[in-house]
Amino acid sequence: MAGPEILNKPVEFRSGLKAPNPTLKSAMTERLCTWSDDPSEFNKRGWPTEAYINLYKAWGKGEIGTIVLGNIPCDARYPEAKRNACIDYTIAGKDDYVKAYRPVMEASKANGSIVIAQVTHAGRQTSEEIVDVPVSASDVQCAPAMGMKFGKPRPLTVEEIKDIVKRFAFAAEVLYEAGADGIQLHAAHGYLLSQFLSPRINKRTDAYGGDLDGRSRIIFEIISAIRQAVPDERFIIAIKVNSADFAEGGFDGDDSMEMAKRLERAGVELIELSGGTYESRAFEHKKESTIKRESFFIEFADRIRPHLTTAKLAVTGGFRSSSAMAQAIAERSCDIVGMARPLTGEPELVKALLEAKSQRAIETHPSLPAELAIPACVFQMSQLGRNEPVSNVGTEQGVQEDRSEGGSEEMDEK
Ligand SMILES: Cc1cc2nc3c(=O)[nH]c(=O)nc-3n(C[C@H](O)[C@H](O)[C@H](O)COP(=O)(O)O)c2cc1C
Repeated sequence: MAGPEILNKPVEFRSGLKAPNPTLKSAMTERLCTWSDDPSEFNKRGWPTEAYINLYKAWGKGEIGTIVLGNIPCDARYPEAKRNACIDYTIAGKDDYVKAYRPVMEASKANGSIVIAQVTHAGRQTSEEIVDVPVSASDVQCAPAMGMKFGKPRPLTVEEIKDIVKRFAFAAEVLYEAGADGIQLHAAHGYLLSQFLSPRINKRTDAYGGDLDGRSRIIFEIISAIRQAVPDERFIIAIKVNSADFAEGGFDGDDSMEMAKRLERAGVELIELSGGTYESRAFEHKKESTIKRESFFIEFADRIRPHLTTAKLAVTGGFRSSSAMAQAIAERSCDIVGMARPLTGEPELVKALLEAKSQRAIETHPSLPAELAIPACVFQMSQLGRNEPVSNVGTEQGVQEDRSEGGSEEMDEK
């Protein structure tokens, strides 16, 4: 069995950029930016606050190889949640955004991590509380999930699809100038790009639907628009994609294998594998055989990794111990190991694992149902944002107590 020393080795991307080690903090919606419910005040949505920057100061100290900021909608009308960050070319110019986001890049990179920012569009998974009629590839409505309801979506016109491509490219330019090392397209978990990829949700009969060529067209258009907007090859284009949707008729393991090959050919340097959607959540083991290896999607990684030569493969979901992470890398199942939930309770966990001061994450949310694990993590992120000690929210009672003691609602406004 591999020891944790393998976790101390740098990862060199094709373009020459080096992450100090093969760990990755996966994107988590922080919900610490400014917000206005008023649709005439979209320009008040999504500006970084002191709390948002403080959170990344905490992670920046943690010796994480790659920090993925998440989740940054490119359209203020269709965020994943209230208080998301946002970069939307229709509401502010590049210079304002660069100025606002530079401190978060500096905070994240303070100790040598590389920083990639996740850009998103929630599509039909924008809750009814935010918009009555969301948009999607077609008009297939998302069933109520995660304590939210969703309106019946309106299919995007081709002109609107082109606009979305432009939105991602604008966000990439902003991020590059603000100091990010790369951009990650969120094409997993049932968000808009994942809606396009899914034959169950994408019923279009035009160039953006049908076979995988059509269903993935928007993604490849975004990739080439980003490369045009940011010609510097050192700026990494990354993607988070499902290994499978785990839904009848959805995007499956064969699709993800084929997509990985095509993404590499298109110049994507980092592919992060995840799985599931709001309707079919997959942040748990789907098979007995993965439990020992901790990682939920490792068997998909095993199939995909041998087909990649220049792109790095990350896999996220379930990793908790340095031994399982080291094993995944030593066995070449993946190049990079991602983690999310453990890092809200222990922002310096990676450092402790690398120095062998700890062997595994403290299970901070083991007994929580999925709908509570996310608010629990969001609450811990808000505490980090306020420079407060992080509470133990490992039980349902703990979450309720913490909420009644102040909750995650009061945050700084820009
Ligand atoms: C609070 C919270 C917010 C999340 N937000 C995002 C997000 O914005 N984008 C994303 O790709 N994944 C998001 N995820 C999923 C995580 O990145 C990760 O894929 C998932 O939690 C499984 O990894 P883990 O077992 O290490 O937590 C979120 C997860 C949590 C707990």
